[in-house]
Amino acid sequence: MANNDLTIGYDDGDIETNLSNGPNLQDLVDQRYSRRQALRGGASTAAVAVFGGSLLAACDDKVEGIDNTPPVVGGRSSGATTGGRVVVLTGTATDDNAIVTQAFTQVSGPTVALSNANTGAASFMAPAVSTATNLVFRYTATDVKGAASSTDITVAVAPPTLGFSAVPKSLADALTVPAGYTATVLYRLGDPLNSATAAYANNGTDTGFSARAGDHHDGMSYFGLAASGTAQDANNSTRGVLVMNHENISEQYLHVNGVTSVNGVRPTAEVVKEMECHGVSVVEVTRASTGGWSYVQGSALNRRITPYTPTTFSGPVRGSALLFTAYSTDGTAGRGTINNCANGHMPWETYMTCEENWAGYFRRDAGDNVRRAAALGTKAVQAFTRYGLNTASGDTLRGGNYAWTTAAEAVSGQTLIRKFNATVDATQPANGTGDFRNEPNQYGWCVEIDPYDPAAAPRKRTALGRMNHEGVWPGRVFAGVKPAFYMGDDAQNEYIYKFVSNTAWVAADAAATNRLAIGDKYLDSGTLYVAKFNADGSGEWIALVFGQNGLTATNPLYAFADQADVLTHCRLAGDAVGATRMDRPEWTAVNPATGEMYCTLTNNSSRAPAQVDAANPRSYIDPRTNGTRSTGNANGHIVRLRERGDTTEATAFTWDVYAFGAGSDLEPTNINLSSLDATNDFSSPDGLWFGRASNASGQVTPVLWIQTDDGAYTDVTNCMMLAAMPGTVGDGGTRTITNTGVSATSTATTRIGKAPGTTLRRFLVGPVGCEITGVDSTPDGRSLFVNIQHPGENGNLSNITSIWPATTAGSRPRSATVVITKEDNGVVAL
Ligand code: FEO
Ligand code: CA
Ligand code: CA
Ligand code: CA
Repeated sequence: MANNDLTIGYDDGDIETNLSNGPNLQDLVDQRYSRRQALRGGASTAAVAVFGGSLLAACDDKVEGIDNTPPVVGGRSSGATTGGRVVVLTGTATDDNAIVTQAFTQVSGPTVALSNANTGAASFMAPAVSTATNLVFRYTATDVKGAASSTDITVAVAPPTLGFSAVPKSLADALTVPAGYTATVLYRLGDPLNSATAAYANNGTDTGFSARAGDHHDGMSYFGLAASGTAQDANNSTRGVLVMNHENISEQYLHVNGVTSVNGVRPTAEVVKEMECHGVSVVEVTRASTGGWSYVQGSALNRRITPYTPTTFSGPVRGSALLFTAYSTDGTAGRGTINNCANGHMPWETYMTCEENWAGYFRRDAGDNVRRAAALGTKAVQAFTRYGLNTASGDTLRGGNYAWTTAAEAVSGQTLIRKFNATVDATQPANGTGDFRNEPNQYGWCVEIDPYDPAAAPRKRTALGRMNHEGVWPGRVFAGVKPAFYMGDDAQNEYIYKFVSNTAWVAADAAATNRLAIGDKYLDSGTLYVAKFNADGSGEWIALVFGQNGLTATNPLYAFADQADVLTHCRLAGDAVGATRMDRPEWTAVNPATGEMYCTLTNNSSRAPAQVDAANPRSYIDPRTNGTRSTGNANGHIVRLRERGDTTEATAFTWDVYAFGAGSDLEPTNINLSSLDATNDFSSPDGLWFGRASNASGQVTPVLWIQTDDGAYTDVTNCMMLAAMPGTVGDGGTRTITNTGVSATSTATTRIGKAPGTTLRRFLVGPVGCEITGVDSTPDGRSLFVNIQHPGENGNLSNITSIWPATTAGSRPRSATVVITKEDNGVVAL
């Protein structure tokens, strides 16, 4: 209401009355101004009706015979909260007539969206402010005759903080979340994806897994869907597709009588089922108006990608002879993906699935080293050995996981099973176009999937290198700056990598519809780097480029032929340039507020005291309650780095260790270095992810989610997920520790972050035998998706050790996605 002449308002002495519950000063002034205007003539009766009332005793309640006593409004006048929490604004009004409208409006502070604004109980999500900030809201009630009163409510908002009580460690066969939260099972092993597939019987009789959820749910991302149901709407928090990996199988539960074979030959039906339980799911999910989530059986976007699905290669290795097979004689195509572990959510809304422990699936017959060397040279044998593809001792048979290659093809002449036998057939061309000697080179890549196009073939992005790819996470993108993608190679003493695109980021690409072409633009041309961590807290990214840093044909370690050779064998390139051997690099995550990159180093039983370094400083004995023990870096740690100049293009960084895993009972001087206690002690960190920048859990002090895949502390607790609000690289100091191993000691000086204390809390504990892995939220942060992998892993049909997620005794366990919401619908964790 305009008022350029405040002095004409009344000053009747009652204006100071009951400010907390009464009309706002400015409203009173405005109302009285209107009254004067009305009395001068020309005002509507509604305008007339706004004056008077008990607060304005000097006014005449009865104007022109109308009963216009305005409502008496009440409710709290102030409150306090923190970012990411739901605030309910309550207004009350009483009147001698009926109240016909109530309304909340925002008067000041950062603009928020008010829900139920035209009721007496509006609500809003407190914004993630960086310093304490007041938000003022006005409640106005109007009676049937148009008389209105208002009151203001001031809400003091502080920066976000963790808002839940830690859950205790647990060995129960149950999923535990904090008070005030609900976890609901959403998508389980075997759940049908199309309407033609029957519900899962879960007794070993089920077939058709190319149209069912696979096993061992792992890395996962949520992609928002537009109302059309086909296009992307990255901001939609109630309808989307989940894309998730199915890393492996609990084969003992998949068949009627467990795993079988006849004279060493696996039944084809069992092998087909086991293969199809691997790969990736794309599944539509929706949130009902009542708040519950479900997956959409029969959605046109639902899709399974299996070890059979046609794929294409892109980037520098495409067309290389290293990829030639009988299926793809020009090295440009392949079939399927396997052992898909963690993931990446690309800034242009595609999903990256990463091939981790693929090597184990391959068979090599006795004498294959000799045949391979004869056909492809000794460096081919060296390369296979470096990638864990070695034949058994004495160049004898290596069988391959689950003995798949013993089975006959489902259709004669197919090579869907045959391709897992990498044995050189000496009767075929030396270059591999007649057999599958090079098939192992087709795995170990990052594979890009368009979640919105079920017909698009996944693309293997060879510029990002070949390894036991855990995951790939993009750094923050800024227009005009080349984006970076951080990756861990999960095996003992392997490396951390970064790929930097040759192409600077263009913001419009985030919403492009030709998503895989955008992937071509950023991912097919760039530089792969490997990390070297120095003892002084500095670090370097060393380029793995043919012709640079000694990566040439005359390298004494390995004769690199070209860039395709460097990328296909980037482990050898990392060896050659002196990269730092890490304690099994798992997930990478990037703090959306600072750009700092975190990487889980899950554990390393082969880290002897004599082999520690500043970034991998621990080697100790971790006793278990059953009398056994773990050695080396038994509980893992989380390293983090800050790029020089805070740019993804940097070739140098500083680092420290955010937190060291340890049981809280372990001694604090040399082992429990982060002073973990009963509320936050953990072991073997693996999954790692920051809250999205689109909600309060990814702003100001973003939430870091840590998931465990543990074997060292499982005598005390099942695997878990924790939430943290970490500080920054360098917020602690240096620490010199003494390592006491089984038969040796050593010292190491490391860089350790500030002890997390209550900024690190256990949020969830899973059922028996599970790993917690895979996490994403809706853009609004109100729904958190988490995967529970392989409950009951250590059991079998005669000793089922977990029945989760069922509640009926004797049920077979199932990997599953759960969705976690806060009962007040606030941002999860805050
Ligand atoms: Fe599949 Fe390294 O975890
Ligand atoms: Ca009235
Ligand atoms: Ca993992
Ligand atoms: Ca792991």
